[in-house]
Amino acid sequence: MAWKAMARVTDVEPGTVKACRINDIPLALYNLDGEFFATHDICTHAHACLSDGYLEDGRIECPLHQGLFDVRTGKAVSGPVDVDLKTFAVRVDGDEVLVDLD
Ligand code: FES
Repeated sequence: MAWKAMARVTDVEPGTVKACRINDIPLALYNLDGEFFATHDICTHAHACLSDGYLEDGRIECPLHQGLFDVRTGKAVSGPVDVDLKTFAVRVDGDEVLVDLD
């Protein structure tokens, strides 16, 4: 495990997503009612940042062609996307959200 600091808990309000970059990897950090999840930030369909998309009901809608991913599992659920997103384990330590990049 290689836990890295990703953001402060207060940086990501519930129901929102934030772009982060660690070790040159673009990541998206989601806060679903106080529970945090992380995925790769680039859509698997084409080059779009999912952190610029619309988050609702635990799904992120890609801003480019409206593909939908489940942010808990990374599963591609509808639209033109058919390749799942890579997900990363996260945990909260005090005021920080940590991500495991392994
Ligand atoms: S780039 Fe995300 S759905 Fe096309």
